[in-house]
Amino acid sequence: MRTFAIANQKGGSGKTTTSVNLAAALGEQDRRVLVLDLDPQHSATAWFGIKNAGKEVLGIFSDDGNLADLVQEAGAPGVDLIPSSSWLVGAEKILAGEVGAETILRRNLERLPPDRWDYLLIDCPPTLGVLTINALTAVEELLVPVEAHVMALSGLAQLLQTVEIVQERLNAKLRISGILACRVDARTRHAREVVEQLREREGPLVYHTIIRENIRLAECPSFGQPITQYDPKSAGAADYRALAQEIISQEGS
Ligand SMILES: Nc1ncnc2c1ncn2[C@@H]1O[C@H](COP(=O)(O)OP(=O)(O)OP(=O)(O)O)[C@@H](O)[C@H]1O
Ligand SMILES: [Mg+2]
Repeated sequence: MRTFAIANQKGGSGKTTTSVNLAAALGEQDRRVLVLDLDPQHSATAWFGIKNAGKEVLGIFSDDGNLADLVQEAGAPGVDLIPSSSWLVGAEKILAGEVGAETILRRNLERLPPDRWDYLLIDCPPTLGVLTINALTAVEELLVPVEAHVMALSGLAQLLQTVEIVQERLNAKLRISGILACRVDARTRHAREVVEQLREREGPLVYHTIIRENIRLAECPSFGQPITQYDPKSAGAADYRALAQEIISQEGS
């Protein structure tokens, strides 16, 4: 199973949009995907039309937590979900004072059935707090969505610094799978310049795929469907399918 954290402490950078729609696009390619919603705002959970996660989500962070019990079908082919709820705010508070708190999620994930999914995608909250650190400690790959604005790129250095610290202290296996330019308005020169600047600065770390600004992507959460189901012919569906293909092709021959 390839394991990804989808993280950026900057709010609204496209983490949830990427988690949900990449999962659905991988599912379309007959891959089995588990999405773990680690954000107390539970946007990914709501996007899949699942509203009733409650206190049981604290099991994600309890020492005897059995994650397999929390898995639900997400309603998109090949995709399962471990839902979130606002109860995760409590987990953040409890973990802040605990020894070894950063590794609880990793230990719980290790107990999942090893062959049931091809990909794990963790949708992280917009902070570098203990929930996100748990995700970075538990996975091997980091996918960083960035909104294609100059301001949005400024937080990237801090995130990459955090990744280095996690690599040194908690998870030597962590690597950056890719930086994903999101919400690119291809009609404006500014957006194209930001993507060029990103490629100059971060080079091969930047995915070839870019995600264009597409109103259909912003609409589909209200309909409880990923873009591949809500509007399979949209630019948003095409872009997330291209990303799925790029990620699959990283697996080589
Ligand atoms: N390619 C896109 N085209 C149009 N709208 C988009 C696109 N990507 C994301 N959005 C919109 O931008 C907003 C932020 O996106 P999203 O919720 O995915 O970001 P996030 O990083 O998960 O936010 P948060 O930090 O709050 O968790 C949402 O309203 C979403 O619908
Ligand atoms: Mg989000």
